[in-house]
Parts: sequence; structure tokens; C-alpha cells
Amino acid sequence: MKSVKGNSIPWAKPTLFGDEERYLLDALKSTWISGGPYVERLERIIPDHLGVRHGIAVSNGTSALQLGLLGLGIGPGDEVIVPGYTFVAAINMVLAVGATPVFADINPDSWDIDVKEVERAITRNTRAVIPVHLYGNVADMPALMELARVRGLAVIEDAAESAFSRLGGKFTGTFGDMGTLSFQATKTLTTGEGGMVLTDDSDLYHRMLTIRDHGMPKDKRYWHDVVGFNFRLTNLQAALGCAQFEQLDSILTERRRVYERYGSALAHIPGIEMQHFSEDLEPVVWTVAVRLRSDHVTISRDDVMQSLLEKGIETRPGFYTPSDMPLYDCPLLPVSQQVSENIFCLPAYPTLKDSEVDHVCEMLKQILESSHAV
Ligand SMILES: Cc1ncc(COP(=O)(O)O)c(C=O)c1O
Repeated sequence: MKSVKGNSIPWAKPTLFGDEERYLLDALKSTWISGGPYVERLERIIPDHLGVRHGIAVSNGTSALQLGLLGLGIGPGDEVIVPGYTFVAAINMVLAVGATPVFADINPDSWDIDVKEVERAITRNTRAVIPVHLYGNVADMPALMELARVRGLAVIEDAAESAFSRLGGKFTGTFGDMGTLSFQATKTLTTGEGGMVLTDDSDLYHRMLTIRDHGMPKDKRYWHDVVGFNFRLTNLQAALGCAQFEQLDSILTERRRVYERYGSALAHIPGIEMQHFSEDLEPVVWTVAVRLRSDHVTISRDDVMQSLLEKGIETRPGFYTPSDMPLYDCPLLPVSQQVSENIFCLPAYPTLKDSEVDHVCEMLKQILESSHAV
């Protein structure tokens, strides 16, 4: 696929319209460039906002997942249930700790893990489930938490793509034993690279703090009780995060505007289906993912994306299912397969103008119409 040209609309763009530069320089001048006060502040303000007791800032959303699995003591012989349609980090981190990912199919409307399929995937070796909340949606957490309670499973919510979405008034990432966030550049709140593990469980929190820092307890330097890593976030990155947090209301308002604008324009384009959100969801949409209805159009998803790119509009495809990738031992999951082949993600970021959203939708409509005409 060719790259996007000048005078174009990128798929994503970080919004740095607050005190990012000032806080970053402040951290730099302070010489606290590894750990430091901005890390401590970020670890206070985000959990406080989400209504969860503890937050551990880490180097990225992938290490947040790895830290969560290690904190739960998950390893060889354990099975962890993951969705059959997902960004790969959860699967890879299950493998990284020596455990086995077991795949559950997704719901055809929400595109998140299907709780009935989770139930079918449970064996005597199952230790945990990782619902990955895709594109701003949130899996059916009340049902999943009830199943996990009855079957004695831990739940790690991967909320990298759904940060600040609320289901029934409760923030994503706060339902499970822990939740993980990513602060990568395209995410709703960014530190460039970064992430956080959220938990209410104080024992788990202290275990993860130790593992984040080489397995070294806070009160005994260079003593190691457990194998640890360096998953720390820097004070420079956290400075960006603190400035971003102060702009959160505007970031969320603008993301909502963009999503709603797409919602009304796309409703008039036959062959395009949006992700289904339940009525009690207040979504914070990370990217506007749409599904091409292959039963309504003759053009392929990849050709639509290529035609948009030629008009200066950058998009992203859905994720490949692990059943397509020989690396993973994953059976065919019909819904994941169907969804994976037909999803693509439209540009969505806080500074995207209404006129640009309208332009994207108009171009998409023309591409689909002209494919009908052939
Ligand atoms: C759902 C999901 N989980 C985890 C990650 C990994 O986060 P990071 O890139 O910060 O490691 C990402 C993407 O970046 C993601 O989309």
C-alpha cells in the first residue's frame, strides 16, 4: 500500500495543546529524568480520576500486561483466555510469561470478547481472562466478572483502546482484578510511550511494584526476592502525561464530537456498519472503526483503504486474527475471522475538523458508489 501524501488527513495525531512543553522542560531542568515527581503525580491523578486505589506507571501498555500476569503469578501450565480478534499484545504477553493463550470468539456486534465463548473455553488449567476492549467499546464486564467469580478466574482488562470509557457509570479498567492502559502516541492520553496498571488489590499492587523494579523491595536496595524487570516510566514521559491529564475534558469533548459527526454521516452510507455500543456505555472512541458489509458491496476492504489513501486519507485495517497467523496455535473462530477481514479505521483525533470528517465520509461514499457502478 502506498504511503499517505502531503495535504492529507492522517489516521491519528496526538493532541499536545496544554502545558506539555513547560512540564517536560521542568522535568528536564530538574535533572529528575528517570523516576521523579511527575511519575508520582501521574500515579495519583489517574487512579483518583478513575476511582481505583492504585496505579503503577510503566514503560508501555504491553509491559503493563506482562506486569499484571507476573503479579498474578501466571506462568507455565496456566491457560489465559484472550479474544480471537484483538491487538496482539495480550496474546504475546501470555506467551512471554510461559502460559498458554486460549482463544474465545468475539461478539459480532460489539467486536469484543463474547462471554459465552469465554465460558466454553474454560478448562481446569484456566487462571485468567483478558478482555481487550477494542476501539473505545467495553466488553460485557458485569457478565464476565460474574463468570470469573463463579469459576475462580482472575480478570485483567486491557483498556489501552478504551481509556476513560464508562460502562454503567464505571470506568473501563476498574472492573477486573486489574486494568491496563497504554499512553502510546495515538492513545487518548499520551506520554509518547507509556502505560499503567490499575488495581484495588493492595497485595497485588505491592507485588507488582517490586516486579517493576528488578524484583527489589523498596526498603532493601539490591536485595531480590523475585525475578523482576525494569518496566519503569520516566519522569520526562510522566511530565507529558500530567499536562495531558489537565486537558482531558477538552480531549474527550473533541473525540466525542468527531465520533458523533462520523455517526450521523456514515448512517447514510449503505454497506458501512459501525461498532455497536450498548446503551449504558459512554464511549471514548480511540479510533472510528467501521465494518464493510461484504454482502452489500462488491469492493474489498483493502481496495477501499487504497482508494482513500489515493485521495489523501490514511486509514488502518482491523487486526489479523491469530488463526490466520501461523505463529499462533489458534483454531478458526468464525466471527473473529469475518470481522477481521472487513474492518478498517477512519481518521479520528481531537483536532480533526468537522469539514475533514465530512470530506472523509464523502470520499468513502463516492468510492463505494463507483464500485457499484462497475
Ligand atoms: C488493545 C491494546 N493493548 C495493548 C497495546 C500495547 O500498548 P503499547 O503500544 O503501549 O505497548 C495496544 C496498542 O498499542 C493496544 O491497542
